[in-house]
Amino acid sequence: MLSAFRKYLLIPRLIRLSSSAPKDPLTAWDTYWGNVRSTGAAGDVLWDSGSDHELEGYLPKFSVLDQSLPIVDVGCGNGSFTRSLARHFPHALGLDYAENAVERARLESDGSTTASYGVCDMTVPDASRTVATALGRAGYSGDANVFIRGVLHVLDRKGRAALAANLLPVVGQRGMVFLAETNFPGTPVDYVTHLGATKDSIPAPLEWAIRGLPMPGRFGAAQRRKAFPAADWELVEEGEASIETRPLSNPSKPDVIPGYFAILRAR
Ligand SMILES: C[S@@+](CC[C@H](N)C(=O)[O-])C[C@H]1O[C@@H](n2cnc3c(N)ncnc32)[C@H](O)[C@@H]1O
Repeated sequence: MLSAFRKYLLIPRLIRLSSSAPKDPLTAWDTYWGNVRSTGAAGDVLWDSGSDHELEGYLPKFSVLDQSLPIVDVGCGNGSFTRSLARHFPHALGLDYAENAVERARLESDGSTTASYGVCDMTVPDASRTVATALGRAGYSGDANVFIRGVLHVLDRKGRAALAANLLPVVGQRGMVFLAETNFPGTPVDYVTHLGATKDSIPAPLEWAIRGLPMPGRFGAAQRRKAFPAADWELVEEGEASIETRPLSNPSKPDVIPGYFAILRAR
């Protein structure tokens, strides 16, 4: 383990790498997805473990959701969770604001009849209308469930609140939101050290993320209370989650980031 001092020798490298990331978040995400060559357990994408193990841990919690409703995977990336969700709900709609992510999700889901994808910025005022239109194209109208993984912790406070408000008309009376986010309790240096970075080497998928994307924050109960105000949302359940990454330290098993999950319904 690095001593308390040695890990700070990483800082100049982190600053150098992250200074090359595009400043506009949408440009950063779209460029990132456009440069991805492969996904899954040996791929480029830090948060894609290539396994259903994390989702399988969430399945018992889905028993409070109405599983006859479709589910919308908000910020779906390459659709790895969307495809798995499509096996547990009648339809899974993956939405992402990065066109390159949606293109990759469609390619990777070739042949699936219960997953579909669309481009949508979930923080803009008419997002819920875009969701309704995309669900309509898949043959669904009315309330839907929502799944969010690893999206709220990359948004600022305003973006998180706007996204949550846009979900109220999507879930309606019958749908619920299930969210799972990283909630790492430390500095960015602690975070990258946890994922195997040293002053001499950084695992490639982590380096790609640092080089191309805005620095992530954390999302836990405190952030959830602000984004999903009690006047609008009832908390059904919350707790700790384990967010699995692409294998980094051991090629045969994912690394894990401490996380947070919550289930909410509209009041
Ligand atoms: C860390 S990735 C997680 C991808 C996917 N949920 C998963 O767990 O594999 C975050 C995703 O959120 C998307 N995203 C960020 N802000 C968004 C927004 N305002 N609307 C829609 N998607 C957004 C990014 O393009 C990116 O694909």
